[in-house]
Amino acid sequence: MESKRVQNLKNQAISSILEAESDKELEELRIAYLGRKGKISQLLKAIPSLNPSARKEMGQLVNDAKKAIEQALQTQISNVECRVSDLDKEWLDVTAPGKKPTIGHFHLVTEAIREITAIFEKIGFTRVSYPEIEWDWYAFEGLNMPKNHPARDEWETLYIDNLKQKKYGRALLTPHTSSGQLREMGKRKPPIRMLNIAKCYRRQSDISHAPMFYQFEGLVIDQNINLTHLKGTLNYFVKAYFGPNRKTRIRPFHFQFTEPSIEIDVSCGLCQGKGCRLCKQGWLELGGAGMVHPVVLKNGGVNSEKYTGFAFGFGVERVLMMKAGLKIDDLRLLYTNDLRFLKQS
Ligand code: FA5
Repeated sequence: MESKRVQNLKNQAISSILEAESDKELEELRIAYLGRKGKISQLLKAIPSLNPSARKEMGQLVNDAKKAIEQALQTQISNVECRVSDLDKEWLDVTAPGKKPTIGHFHLVTEAIREITAIFEKIGFTRVSYPEIEWDWYAFEGLNMPKNHPARDEWETLYIDNLKQKKYGRALLTPHTSSGQLREMGKRKPPIRMLNIAKCYRRQSDISHAPMFYQFEGLVIDQNINLTHLKGTLNYFVKAYFGPNRKTRIRPFHFQFTEPSIEIDVSCGLCQGKGCRLCKQGWLELGGAGMVHPVVLKNGGVNSEKYTGFAFGFGVERVLMMKAGLKIDDLRLLYTNDLRFLKQS
């Protein structure tokens, strides 16, 4: 009978201990069972008053119950500690300032291409792109540069071995976007307002030349198009891309596929045209342009008696370099994938 009472007490103590959720509750239970005046202590105190035959058995039972209760207390103390430290880990300070997510941006050249495209689309140009692997006829012959013409040397072209056509000649990596002029004329009838942005390839590599680079080519063909339209378009582009204070200047030049031909300069953004270490005399060269040669119109199937046109072709990386504020000492850095450099925007 006594043994049953001890057993019940032990079970009751252990179940209360295992349900306890805090140190405070556990301490209260420890006192209630194991404290000086606790239930177990009272049982122990009562043992000497039992008859000798029952003392040993009762002593054993109460001591076993005491050990089991102590063990349950230890187990639950560490359970409660773990739960508290888990809570600590999950603790969230809702007042803490948020962490900024890292935001990337497009490659500098892609950004420039998008900006250039948007500027020309505003005035009605349509963006196109034509093959990077091109036939000689589109890149040279159709542009009024017959085979063995010395002007071809300037384009330092990469040819593709063993690939040629009877009508269009050898295959090559297009050295300039002017090949798109004839492709566009073959595809659309005037009025034409084309913006061809594409990769170009040349056997060149130094601080201002890359073997692969981008050009953007404008072509406008309609009735009564003249040089003032070309000048106005270039002025508009320069102010939109470089800023309202930048000026343009045109110089006579020679290209086989335009007549007259010009080169365009932009006033230097660093010294505002006064002359500095970067520009020497206040001007930076933008690229070539001119009125489309009648032979080219004819080769493109356009009636040169009825229509006239202008064209221009500039390097994307060069205009990017010329935009004040960007640190580009060597154009080829744009293609070495060094993030420290590419992160500037
Ligand atoms: C031409 O390629 C002509 N097709 C431009 C043209 C178009 C004239 C329409 C008239 C009418 P040029 O070789 O100068 O011209 O190249 C034009 C621009 O491309 C240069 O001013 C330069 O900005 C860029 N460029 C040329 N070669 C490289 C290169 N290797 N690396 C980077 N940019 C280059």
